[in-house]
Amino acid sequence: MNPKIIDWQGKHVWLVGASAGIGAALAEALAARGARLALSARSVEKLAALNVDNATLVPCDATDIDALTAARNTVLAAFGNIDLVIYLAGDYQPMRAGSFDLVAAEKIVTVNFLGAMRFTSLVLPNLREGGGIAFVASVAGYRGMPKSLAYGPGKAALIHFAECLYFDLAPKNIGVWVINPGFVATQLTAKNDFDMPAIIQPAQAAEEIIEGLRSGNFEIHFPKRFTRVMKLLALLPYGLYFRLMRRITGG
Ligand SMILES: NC(=O)c1ccc[n+]([C@@H]2O[C@H](COP(=O)([O-])OP(=O)(O)OC[C@H]3O[C@@H](n4cnc5c(N)ncnc54)[C@H](OP(=O)(O)O)[C@@H]3O)[C@@H](O)[C@H]2O)c1
Repeated sequence: MNPKIIDWQGKHVWLVGASAGIGAALAEALAARGARLALSARSVEKLAALNVDNATLVPCDATDIDALTAARNTVLAAFGNIDLVIYLAGDYQPMRAGSFDLVAAEKIVTVNFLGAMRFTSLVLPNLREGGGIAFVASVAGYRGMPKSLAYGPGKAALIHFAECLYFDLAPKNIGVWVINPGFVATQLTAKNDFDMPAIIQPAQAAEEIIEGLRSGNFEIHFPKRFTRVMKLLALLPYGLYFRLMRRITGG
């Protein structure tokens, strides 16, 4: 389906959202495999504090098209070309109708979805055969869930966007991947006030992503013991789905 990325030695990889959590762990894991990295996030201090040698640090706000354009130009000037770009930038806040906060919701959708779209528009001309673009979405994008009023819709849109993009880039042997993690222990999920089933560490998530990129599959999802259940739930008709999800989450 997608190109299989097996050898990382000397590969030019740009990670957006690399200063913490899954992105930081992925940066460290790819650097250890010999990739040449460009790392973006808003905080240059956090990027500089990572355990990654020789990375090109390109701080930028992924929602700001001018900042993204400047970052893209810096990465191209440093690397000459880019093999793989991965968009991980994201934000989360549990939200229900009773506490609906439009400003916060729009901010979340902007970084989780619009930022990814803006980023794609800028790097599309630079994507190359054998490489491509990957988006970190979430199993929360499969279907509507309680507390996911702002987060879920942006992730659902991101999955849909990646699917549409796949049709255009796959015939050129340019990869499009959608990465759907379950729960990963990061500052983002620290906001949750419930027990997160099958939660894994960022380093495990990074290994799953690298393994997934090796497989050539369009979707990379993990941990399977959790994501397979979410996939089954996503197949149910609405009546059953709403009843079951309410019972499982207590929502
Ligand atoms: N943790 C999970 O359980 C889980 C599950 C499914 C999907 N995901 C997704 O995985 C991705 C990474 O999540 P995480 O848990 O690793 O979160 P995290 O630890 O909070 O890391 C988020 C990263 O995105 C960067 N970022 C946020 N807003 C940005 C912006 N406007 N411009 C540029 N960079 C920005 C942050 O750096 P700065 O603050 O310095 O900008 C940070 O490097 C997100 O898209 C998230 O939705 C996470």
